[in-house]
Amino acid sequence: MELLQQIRQKAAEANKRIVLAEGEEERNIRAAMAITKEKIARITLIGDPEVIKKNVPDVDLTGIEVFNPNNENLTKYAEALYEIRKSKGMTMEQATALCHDCLYLGVLMVKLGDVDGMVAGAIHSTGDVLRPALQIIKTAPGIKTVSSCFIMVLPEGSPYGDNGVMVFADCAVNPCPTAEQLADIAIASAASAKSIAGIDPRVAMLSFSTMGSAKHELVDKVTAATAMVKAQAPDLKVDGELQLDAAIVEKVAKLKAPNSPVAGKANVLVFPDLQAGNIGYKLVQRFAGAEAIGPVSQGFNLPINDLSRGCSVEDIVNVAAMTVLQATK
Ligand code: ACO
Repeated sequence: MELLQQIRQKAAEANKRIVLAEGEEERNIRAAMAITKEKIARITLIGDPEVIKKNVPDVDLTGIEVFNPNNENLTKYAEALYEIRKSKGMTMEQATALCHDCLYLGVLMVKLGDVDGMVAGAIHSTGDVLRPALQIIKTAPGIKTVSSCFIMVLPEGSPYGDNGVMVFADCAVNPCPTAEQLADIAIASAASAKSIAGIDPRVAMLSFSTMGSAKHELVDKVTAATAMVKAQAPDLKVDGELQLDAAIVEKVAKLKAPNSPVAGKANVLVFPDLQAGNIGYKLVQRFAGAEAIGPVSQGFNLPINDLSRGCSVEDIVNVAAMTVLQATK
């Protein structure tokens, strides 16, 4: 069965509730209907039902909860936000005002357990979606870095990855990761590869150098990160630093990294920074026609996922299904 169908089917078995915070926006409303019809999750839309009906005249809200912040008592959310952020200088007035921001409200609904996860980002930037989650949900125990990955599904017949399935990271969150953060990203991405993409991870730490072929402080950072991953996750198949061709092409790997257990067959690519990662996934998506599922957030204590502003209704449905899978762990 195709990966996306598997993800949707597993989600349907979990019976979780997901809030679509940008609930008045057309793609979100249509995604809510599709998710409800396929029973992928129970959906809460944040928004005014009148605006929802105006934006999508053929909307069918059967089975969908609409949470209208203008009519609801938001005190419990404001109090929770104030408690979490008062040490950072937030006042009760500020907390009360922020509860009328759909992103803060959605994150607070997840925090208080009213819903199991949140999806947003069709009309807000990644920074706007992630900041409230970083402030309120924070990282899972033992994890220091929130990051993201994309599950890349290459066109049929592709020789790369596992049946064309690969994981790319970090393509959406950390602009300039330190070596420690790169190591965290690698370990988290390997876990996502297993739990969401269903593949046994072979992680390549990418660089413009392969096994010392170039000397530069940027290369040193990737080498240091690789050593940290090996120390922290001794059972994980990981190697670096590797150039992209050495990571995924057997012939090149034999020349450049003949002793590597990962080179030539990597299925998880860890990019050295966000410029490389963000450009890299979009190149493969556009030039190779790959399906880019995500970004999938990694490291949050509770599931919050961002969307690309160019997302389609189907993208929202897929990210909601992945959010359900994260909520079942
Ligand atoms: N992991 C864990 N905690 C973090 C992280 C992280 N990666 N980043 C920030 N934090 C914490 C901070 O320590 C801080 O905690 P505190 O307030 O409790 O002390 C809190 O989160 C908020 O930090 P800020 O400094 O306010 O947030 P910042 O301005 O660093 O923003 C953000 C974080 C939004 C993730 C930022 O790094 C960012 O904008 N990244 C790029 C996003 C982007 O534009 N991506 C590309 C587009 S996506 C696409 O194309 C699919």
